Amino acid sequence: MERKGGSGTSWKGLNRNLTNYGDRDFSAFLRSSFAKGLGYTRSATNRPIIGIAQTWSELNPCHGHFRELAAAVKRGVLLAGGLPVEFPTMSLGEMFVSPSAMFFRNLLAMETEELLRAQPLDAAVLLGSCDKTIPAQLMAAVSANVPAILLPGGPMLDGYFEGETIGACTDCRRLWTEFRAGRLTTEQLDQVSDALAPSTGHCMVMGTASTMACLAEALGMTVLGAAAAPAPLAERFRLAEMTGYEAVRLANDPLRPSDILTPEAFENAIRVLCAIGGSTNAVIHLTAIAGRAGIALRPSDFDRVSRQTPLLVALKPSGIFQMSDFHRAGGVPAVLHQLRPLLHLNTRRISGRALAEELSERPVTGDGTVIAHLDHPLAPEGGISAVYGNLAPHGAILKHSAATRSLLQHRARAHVFHSYDALLEAADADKDQINPEDALVLGGAGPLGGPGMPEVGNLPIPRALLRQGIRDMLRISDARMSGTAFGTVILHVCPEAASGGPLGLVHTGDEVELDWEHRALTVLVDDRELERRAIEGHRPAVPERGYARLFAEHVLQADEGCDFDFLRPSPQPE
Ligand code: FES
Repeated sequence: MERKGGSGTSWKGLNRNLTNYGDRDFSAFLRSSFAKGLGYTRSATNRPIIGIAQTWSELNPCHGHFRELAAAVKRGVLLAGGLPVEFPTMSLGEMFVSPSAMFFRNLLAMETEELLRAQPLDAAVLLGSCDKTIPAQLMAAVSANVPAILLPGGPMLDGYFEGETIGACTDCRRLWTEFRAGRLTTEQLDQVSDALAPSTGHCMVMGTASTMACLAEALGMTVLGAAAAPAPLAERFRLAEMTGYEAVRLANDPLRPSDILTPEAFENAIRVLCAIGGSTNAVIHLTAIAGRAGIALRPSDFDRVSRQTPLLVALKPSGIFQMSDFHRAGGVPAVLHQLRPLLHLNTRRISGRALAEELSERPVTGDGTVIAHLDHPLAPEGGISAVYGNLAPHGAILKHSAATRSLLQHRARAHVFHSYDALLEAADADKDQINPEDALVLGGAGPLGGPGMPEVGNLPIPRALLRQGIRDMLRISDARMSGTAFGTVILHVCPEAASGGPLGLVHTGDEVELDWEHRALTVLVDDRELERRAIEGHRPAVPERGYARLFAEHVLQADEGCDFDFLRPSPQPE
């Protein structure tokens, strides 16, 4: 029920979340006076107020069109009778922040959550795109639990190099590797550089940004069909207008993230992740978002759903297509149609309607080339596995769909590195010490050690081996990997080396074994010897001040989504 103040003031709209001056009526008077200072009439501020969280920045090309996108959202809000108000939050351009955008994901989540709670908003539109933005915004929305809808910014258009379609960043890494192997000239590399990011929008393969946009849609936090339309298309701007319209409906009929983000919604999202061959980073992000809702996801949950979910989408790096093809083939709604027998169809979407109802209004499109039919999948299972063992007691992740089959059952001599720089130096040294059947092992690149778990898990193949034509070998680390990369790469080893995990106890020359069939990752060293090595181990120093200190003192491990411990809800008493 709407509450009224002594003067008949409504505490909704502009009077929501009043600044504390000791007298609420005075605070409301002051705020309305200063809203007039913004040029708003009383008639404007009496409407539902829709905040638009703006993440545009000149240091974030993926969000380069966000001012125009916000204008389209505003049009939708105005047409529906609301008052749109745009406010800035930090912008995380993946290649433009150090040490990694992941290091700042929780900071963006905190900032967005607090602004959603602190400002006079009846509902909010969250404009997200580049890798960490959508996860951070969903984490914020869950914790603030205010009516909020997400609008993904859409992928870039395709790039072209020597007659071939190329996509960031599957082809960034592939072609860089060719350059390192001496098969691409500096001039050719320059042409690649011109073509990798040909328009605004996020990376156009099934990397982390595309994956998280698809998962936000699968979770029900966007309008149906919001993920795939490329950023420069008119359709993207129509989606923005629709999102603005929907936000006003949300303000009038409040539905909160807690009504939408149920365990069933997360299971649907994991299923879509597996069917689209999505990024391993989504394992961390979905775990963090679910954790905010008090729902515990573990690496084994992803493995379980992956075993039951066929791979349907042939996008890079698992296939040959890009997001523009996915869009033409029907995008996420087409995937959801195929997955119908495996989904919880009664989950509610941001519209307030059930998934089944919304899907029934979307025609099934596509000929099965880009999005395969459920009875003719690209692979019988999804591409993500979780492995456990004495090397990863809390689990590690492997994208087996992007791995070399023969390396999935493999025992290898470990070459251990405690920093990426040391690994890079060895990889470039051209010394013939590392054999193709060996394993590269990197510790110190996890949430604490990185810090911020950089995307270095796709450890570089030594140059000497590249020249022999070797493009993959077993690699193990506590780092993440770009969703666009490929290889037999074991990631997110947990607990990480810097927190005392066994990964930090492996020595060069030890044998390590991946037994993918049994989901086992082992170092063949007896427990006593590992205990002895643990006593000699040391932890990294905690930074003295600021956000880096907050991060070091509170970041959780990968199996808990790398969230901060104090941002998760306290366990409810039994
Ligand atoms: Fe922004 Fe790839 S750099 S999504």
